[in-house]
Amino acid sequence: MPNQTVTLRDGQQALIRPLTTSDTRLLYRCFRGYGEQARRNFAPHPFTREIAEDICSQADDQRTSQRFLVVRGAPPKEQPLGYAFLWFLDQEIPSLGIGMVDAAVGRGLGRCVLEFLLERARELGHRRLWLSVMERNARARALYESAGFAYYGEPRWSENGQGMILRMEKVIAPVEGGEPG
Ligand SMILES: CC(C)(COP(=O)(O)OP(=O)(O)OC[C@H]1O[C@@H](n2cnc3c(N)ncnc32)[C@H](O)[C@@H]1OP(=O)(O)O)[C@@H](O)C(=O)NCCC(=O)NCCS
Repeated sequence: MPNQTVTLRDGQQALIRPLTTSDTRLLYRCFRGYGEQARRNFAPHPFTREIAEDICSQADDQRTSQRFLVVRGAPPKEQPLGYAFLWFLDQEIPSLGIGMVDAAVGRGLGRCVLEFLLERARELGHRRLWLSVMERNARARALYESAGFAYYGEPRWSENGQGMILRMEKVIAPVEGGEPG
């Protein structure tokens, strides 16, 4: 699976790379980099050490999910900037998620990570992707709208009652011999 070097708005470089079975410490550090607002807007699962361990222990099994870290620096001094994933890869329309740590928000990384996930899903042969976003998450919605994601279906309340969730979808590859749709 490819690594991708990306350049932030301030000229610094970061690396998007697959999560590995030895990334528990780094992933948990990433989780701890999410402040209150990020946790209210991005809650794919609890951000505990146990969950980080569990996720990393399954990093080699990529049938249903592929997970990535965004890092700065080289081992053993990598700094986590974010975590991203493709989920439901065994289904026709997989889902994506992106969570940059507070210190990495607003630096143009979200778009790079999003493009990376779209390309990865295309390589895996998928034609559409979906995601969930909190209605109040203006930054994320601006990013997804500008990347061509459109709202799909009715908004619904989150299970924890923390706000309205919107579903967005994007066609990422045309139908062979036909119109995208
Ligand atoms: C949401 C997230 C992925 C966006 O990535 P990012 O690198 O921080 O994005 P940027 O700051 O570059 O902003 C993306 C776009 O939104 C715009 N934007 C920023 N803040 C905004 C706001 N408050 N209202 C509307 N638009 C906003 C930016 O101008 C930018 O558009 P541009 O590239 O055309 O200028 C990232 O902030 C993040 O992970 N946040 C915490 C967790 C989270 O909310 N995850 C998403 C769950 S769905």
